[in-house]
Order: sequence, then structure tokens, then C-alpha cells
Amino acid sequence: MLSSWLTRNCSIGRSAADAVVTIKVALGERSYDIVIGHGLVERAVHYLAPLARDGRLLVVSDENVWALLGAQLEAGLDPIRPVPVLIPAGEGSKSWVGLAAVVDGLLAQGVERTDHIVAFGGGVVGDLAGFAAAIVNRGCNFVQVPTSLLAQVDSSVGGKTAINVAAGKNLVGSFHQPSLVLVDTVLLDTLDARQMKAGYAEIVKYALIEDSELFGWLEEEGAKLFSGDEAARIHAIAAAVAGKARIVEEDERETSGRRALLNFGHTFGHALEAETAYSDRLLHGEAVALGCVLAFAFSAERNRCSEADARRVRDHFRSVGLPTTLGELGLQGQGDRLAKHMEQDKKRSHGRTAFILTRKIGEAFIDKDVDLADVARFLDQAP
Ligand SMILES: NC(=O)c1ccc[n+]([C@@H]2O[C@H](COP(=O)([O-])OP(=O)(O)OC[C@H]3O[C@@H](n4cnc5c(N)ncnc54)[C@H](O)[C@@H]3O)[C@@H](O)[C@H]2O)c1
Ligand SMILES: [Zn+2]
Repeated sequence: MLSSWLTRNCSIGRSAADAVVTIKVALGERSYDIVIGHGLVERAVHYLAPLARDGRLLVVSDENVWALLGAQLEAGLDPIRPVPVLIPAGEGSKSWVGLAAVVDGLLAQGVERTDHIVAFGGGVVGDLAGFAAAIVNRGCNFVQVPTSLLAQVDSSVGGKTAINVAAGKNLVGSFHQPSLVLVDTVLLDTLDARQMKAGYAEIVKYALIEDSELFGWLEEEGAKLFSGDEAARIHAIAAAVAGKARIVEEDERETSGRRALLNFGHTFGHALEAETAYSDRLLHGEAVALGCVLAFAFSAERNRCSEADARRVRDHFRSVGLPTTLGELGLQGQGDRLAKHMEQDKKRSHGRTAFILTRKIGEAFIDKDVDLADVARFLDQAP
């Protein structure tokens, strides 16, 4: 099934040195391409000049990314001039205040309805710039140029944009698809090892949902992503993005439930993030890694999948240095507290929390019939 989708939606072009993979997200008039390759920012002008107005492009970025990589984008866009609208780096910017700063910044630069705003940064920049683009002038176009691995494999694709508010994370936002996503693996060279691993967890997550072949490949070759092997990076990113794109095509607004599969490991993960107060103690991707391990262990306990698969998943996350036990985070024996967070999770509907469980590696499914008391008991005893 996946291979016929890939034949239809993906093309691999080879320039002199680099492979460029293009994945099409087919959403009618909201369709767009995701272009993945090595050194794309260097030739950004080729992709982005047609979207510029009066020789310039408005670029939303964070101060950290702009200081590290702004000059590369500037050089690659020449003679088009990027006009940066900058926010402080970090999750704190995904707020009402951050949103107002970006929208006011864009308006001060004379943003027009037909403009394409470029989001150049990690998931924070992408979510914020995307939401700002959705509302400024009642909606502008935007382009994602994701710079973190997590943004390259996850947040830049699919059109979910949001900010965090007092009531919770990502509770205010919109579905607003980008008009192009440019994924350049060169940008990962400045990303620190911990952030790389966190992004890697989301790649493993896709494999676990419905691509057992990718999981096997990651077991053999996944470590190459960390040593800067460009072909391996492009292969893994393209596989994960193709998985997400296909699910988004089938359920753009998460109405049929299929898109909820992308939350595999996340119901557990969000509870862990809430319990650690969304702090540096646990990055989102780290929470997802442990969340996937817990989802497998819980599924095995309920005889939905084999112990052997649960072990294989845990061993793989452990082999790359991602967390695989509650104990290593000091969260052992806190089942009730963690289940409470799940109760408050926004993914609940009709008073129940939908759990994404698994039959085996590559076969996740939605179970709407899980009793939170069972989850609390399971978490209480989990190592
Ligand atoms: N919209 C979606 O579908 C979706 C999906 C998953 C996650 N998200 C959101 O994404 C956000 C997390 O994204 P993130 O992990 O990219 O966080 P982030 O944007 O905060 O980036 C992490 C850190 O890495 C730095 N950074 C980014 N690229 C870099 C580079 N190339 N070199 C050096 N430093 C770099 C940033 O400045 C930041 O300090 C969360 O807010 C989450 O809710 C959204
Ligand atoms: Zn995630």
C-alpha cells in the first residue's frame, strides 16, 4: 500500500552531487510539494524567487537560528532579500505575546495578502509563523524551511499551527497548509546532539505506526543519521515525511480519526511532559520515545502485541540514547498523577481518552475503550 503511494507521490531527481526527493501532498487546491535534499538553502533562490515580491521575502525565525544560519539563507536567496522578523528562541515564544509580536512585525514590514511568509526555524517558529500567516490580512501563504530534525520530519508537514495558552499546549491555532516545504539536511549540522535524538524519536514513531520496513532499516542504519551521513538522513526523513503526508491526505483535519494515529506514543508522552512541566528535563521527542516504549509495553500487557516486539522497540530507543524507563526520569510509581494528566489531554472526546495501541511493529490502531484506571495501574508498575 505504502509503495504504490510512493510511486504516485514521490520523485527522486539526481543533480550532480545530491539526491533530491520530492513528495507531493495531494490536498486539492491546498496541495504542495515537500522537497528534501542536501544543500537546498544554498540554492534557495531557485525555489523561493517565484514567491518573492519587490525582490524581498518576509522570514520569521528565532534569534538563535537566525544568528547561526541567517547568513546561509541570505546568500542562497541572493538577489532576493530576506527581511527577518525574529522571536526569542524557545517554547515560550509560542504564546499570545509571541503571536502578537510576529503579526505586528509582519504588518510593520507591509505584509500583503498574496505574500509568502517563510518560516525558518524549528517547530516553534513553524507553528507560530504558520498561525500568524493564517490570520494576518485574513490569511497569507507561507513556506516552511524547517531547521530542526523534529520540524523536518513532523511539524513542518500537515498544516497544524498553534500557540500555547494558559489552559494547555497547542490549544489555539488553525489548520493552514504551507505552499511549499524545503527540507535541507545541511541545516542539521549545527543542531545539538540532544535535539537530533529528540527528532529521531519522531522518525521511529512513523515506522512503528505503519512502516515495519523502515523500523528494520533504522535498526541497521539509524545511527548514521547522527554521524552526518547525508544519504541516510535523506532516506529516513523522506520515509517519515511520506508516512505523515499520506495520513494527512486521508484525514487532513483529524475528523475520521486516522490522523490520530500520528499521536502514537503521545498520550503517554504528553503526560510525561506535563509532569515535568514542559521543562528542559524532558524534550518533546524524548517524551515520545518513552511514550512509544510504554505504548508497546501496555499493548503487550493486554495481549495486543508480542513481548518480543515491545523489547525490540525499547532496545532500539535505548541504543541511540533515548529514555526508555520512567525510573531514569525519576517518575516511577506515579501512575495516578500521570493518568490525571491524560484525563486533561485535549485528545479526549466524549469524556474518554483515545489510546493508540499496537498489534505489532508497523501496525498501530486506535483503541477508544481503554480504562484510565488500567493505565494508572500499568504505569505504577512500569520500570
Ligand atoms: N504543527 C505540528 O504538527 C507539530 C508537530 C510536532 C511538534 N510541533 C511543535 O514543535 C515544537 C517543537 O519543535 P522543535 O523541537 O523544533 O523546537 P524549537 O523550535 O524550540 O527548536 C529547538 C531548539 O533548537 C534550535 N534550533 C533549531 N534549528 C537549529 C539548527 N539547525 N541549529 C541549531 N539550533 C537549532 C532552536 O533555536 C531551539 O533553541 C513544539 O512547540 C511542538 O508543539 C508541532
Ligand atoms: Zn510529536
